[in-house]
Amino acid sequence: MVALALRVTDGQRAYHRGATRQPVFTDLNLEVRTGEVLALLGPSGCGKSTLLRILAGLESLDHGRLEVFGARPSAPKVGIAFQQPSLLPWLTVAQNVALGLRFAANRAARTPDAVSRVLDELRLESVADAYPAELSGGQAQRANVARLVVTGRPILLLDEPFAALDPGTREALQDWLLDLQRARGLTLVVVTHDLSEALHLGDRVAVMSGIPGTIRRVWDVRSHGGRTDRSEAGEAVRRHILSQYDADPRPADRPTTWADTLSDSPQGR
Ligand SMILES: Nc1ncnc2c1ncn2[C@@H]1O[C@H](COP(=O)(O)OP(=O)(O)OP(=O)(O)O)[C@@H](O)[C@H]1O
Ligand SMILES: [Mg+2]
Repeated sequence: MVALALRVTDGQRAYHRGATRQPVFTDLNLEVRTGEVLALLGPSGCGKSTLLRILAGLESLDHGRLEVFGARPSAPKVGIAFQQPSLLPWLTVAQNVALGLRFAANRAARTPDAVSRVLDELRLESVADAYPAELSGGQAQRANVARLVVTGRPILLLDEPFAALDPGTREALQDWLLDLQRARGLTLVVVTHDLSEALHLGDRVAVMSGIPGTIRRVWDVRSHGGRTDRSEAGEAVRRHILSQYDADPRPADRPTTWADTLSDSPQGR
């Protein structure tokens, strides 16, 4: 049996908008395997960022269940990096990375050389004393990830981490992230709008449909010829994902109700 890092069962989440309750996602079923990279694709507004906040314990499901390593979430095991790198501008890179260790929840990871080891490992030692405004976009993203890594949490959620970077930097950081994931045995969930990135990073690729969102389908990319977006097998998976990606475009302005959305069957496994 595959060990699961995260599992959402029949997850539902809605936000209040004025007097109405607007479902974000319904019937959401998702499994994230321990030690894998799951790439999460889906149209804008289908609830990817909302799902990550729930997986990180920053928001709750209205209905359904979240399990972390097979149990109810208790001690923090999940770290999240938001869509924008949120480094504090008045602190250096090293001070930004050290900041997370001041919280009680991360006490176990607090050792005298924790920050310098992570800066070394993530190839940031040369900018340890630089301020965020002095960093390139790629360096800022690496520092953003370093802040998570230093906490020692085994599951990291990254929300469009490389979206704002030029293609060359982006490819270099994708490989950097995979090296880091392998070296530390991390479980990663990476949201992206870029199918090539999803195929390159993901052991599996999940596509959310919406709106409201649900997990439409999950592809095991690795078993289809490895992590690549260039091989023939990769090309077949790419075409299949694209066909599914377009298959259920629900106009954002169409009024939806729980009854509407509950008639869709979950496709998450
Ligand atoms: N705090 C909030 N209050 C009310 N509505 C919200 C809140 N957060 C998100 N939403 C709504 O929930 C829906 C899903 O938002 P979310 O940010 O999760 O989408 P997304 O898939 O991450 O989109 P994108 O690809 O553009 O980042 C949107 O309709 C959004 O307006
Ligand atoms: Mg988002």
